[in-house]
Amino acid sequence: MILPLFFIFCLFSSSHAAVQDFCVGDLTAPQGPAGYSCKNPSKVTVNDFVFSGLGTPGNTSNLIKAAVTPAFAAQFPGVNGLGISFGRLDLAPGGVVPFHTHPGGSEILVVVQGTILAGFVSSANTVYFKSLKKGDIMVFPQGLLHFQVNAGGSAAIAFVSFSSSSPGLQILDYALFGNNLPTELVAATTFLDTAQIKKLKGVLGGTG
Ligand SMILES: *[C@@H]1O[C@H](CO)[C@@H](O)[C@H](O)[C@H]1NC(C)=O
Repeated sequence: MILPLFFIFCLFSSSHAAVQDFCVGDLTAPQGPAGYSCKNPSKVTVNDFVFSGLGTPGNTSNLIKAAVTPAFAAQFPGVNGLGISFGRLDLAPGGVVPFHTHPGGSEILVVVQGTILAGFVSSANTVYFKSLKKGDIMVFPQGLLHFQVNAGGSAAIAFVSFSSSSPGLQILDYALFGNNLPTELVAATTFLDTAQIKKLKGVLGGTG
């Protein structure tokens, strides 16, 4: 009886020795593929594990009438290395989060106020979209293009979680029309006409 217990004890102690409880991100150093390097554990406080920004609505006075407030590793260093993060989405009436992708992680969205029409497109170009009401959740698989649109007449709020501490965010419209990619190249790669491209570049801050 004594011997097996001793073995179990050894197993636990050796696995504990190999496990690091956390790796709070050291935001003073650049982020690498594996995330931020670890802040000195003696400097870690409870505030590294708490993010207090999500009770306040984001500012939706912008072109898309929407605001995403991220609590990713860059804002919330306690999640660094844990493969999770969080955020808040505010959509004013008429608001939209245009087609975008999070290259680093899948997303789950829960609607807590209003109605949100959300959807994604698979690699096979099949579209999955649905109108979500309070309490509904929807998952957006990693890397796939997806969108959210306020489908009601009042402000909508959702919270989102990610399977990455730094899921990233790339918005298709800004990738196409918000930079200096020459209009002819945008036309050649999208089949859009140049007048439409120049118009969208004007709206989204692009040049060329
Ligand atoms: C919201 O953003 C707009 C546009 O940038 C700005 O003019 C306004 O002051 C901001 N409102 C708040 C409450 O920060």
